[in-house]
Amino acid sequence: MKNNITVSAPGKLMLFGEHAVVYGLPCIVTAVDQRMWTNIIRTQKLTIKLAAPEVKIPKFEADINIPLKKVPQGAKFVFAAVKNFYKEYKVSSGLDIKTRSDFSSSFGFGSSSAVTVCVVKGLAEIFGIKISNKALFDICYKTILDVQGVGSGFDIAAAIWGGTLYFVGGGKKIAQISKENLPLTVGYTGVKADTTTLVKKVAELKKIKPKVVNSIFNLIVLIVEDAKKLLKKANCEELGRLANLNQGLLEALGISTFELSNLIYASRGAGAFGAKLSGAGGGDCMIAFAPPTKTSKIKKAIEKHGGTFLPVKTGAEGVRVEKINIKR
Ligand code: PMV
Repeated sequence: MKNNITVSAPGKLMLFGEHAVVYGLPCIVTAVDQRMWTNIIRTQKLTIKLAAPEVKIPKFEADINIPLKKVPQGAKFVFAAVKNFYKEYKVSSGLDIKTRSDFSSSFGFGSSSAVTVCVVKGLAEIFGIKISNKALFDICYKTILDVQGVGSGFDIAAAIWGGTLYFVGGGKKIAQISKENLPLTVGYTGVKADTTTLVKKVAELKKIKPKVVNSIFNLIVLIVEDAKKLLKKANCEELGRLANLNQGLLEALGISTFELSNLIYASRGAGAFGAKLSGAGGGDCMIAFAPPTKTSKIKKAIEKHGGTFLPVKTGAEGVRVEKINIKR
């Protein structure tokens, strides 16, 4: 029996609407050209064997029915994804899974979501099950909630559909806006952010100051809706203006940091039309809207202020089967 498949899925960058999207509101996310790669081999032995060096799992092997709490952190998404797939489609088999990433899991590009999408897509191919993008989304989103308890699912959608998406929290609406590379410059702060902690921080503030935080979310929705229209025209200057407005509101929610603000101001000073943090805040990456003629100046400014310039293209292709060798 030879059942061997390789699947890849893109990482993502949040453009507008982070945090508000957790409460069922819309956001805009884009897929990046740095991908997560997953090879799955079907085996006779009823265990899951995983090698995921990028999340410090050189090798981990366990029975398929191992409780999730006994699985090491870096392996949880893969094990939960397999369990959810087997339960949904009433199938089972041993697996040998290897993952490899084009990007560091510290960037906040969504390596957990991308690997989850790769595993579920790969299993559907291995078991000959036709799966729509929405059905794929539902299993992967359940997996994310099983492992981390919170999340809107925007990163899962980016890994599946690719391009730049308008996404409403929980997947109530998922629409592709464009497939173009956007005029963006990306800087990494060097600080790894913990999304769950930051989501809880905003929830806490919302509990103490519900009217203020809900009003901030309503303003964020206006920005997202405006950006949706502007992205169709790739209007860089206007998008930059919206990025600055969105950043101000994220500052108000208390999730920006000195390192993020430092890179954001440096980019604006170097000629970007606008800049903001991307994702949960607390660290990870910032994005700047600027024409390509300004990229090298912004890159230098980011590096001078302690950040790392990340050369990424946006609007990348969603999940895809790279190699397949299956005999039924
Ligand atoms: O930390 P990231 O890049 O995964 O982004 C989190 C974005 C939030 O809106 C804060 C959470 C979510 O799941 O939408």
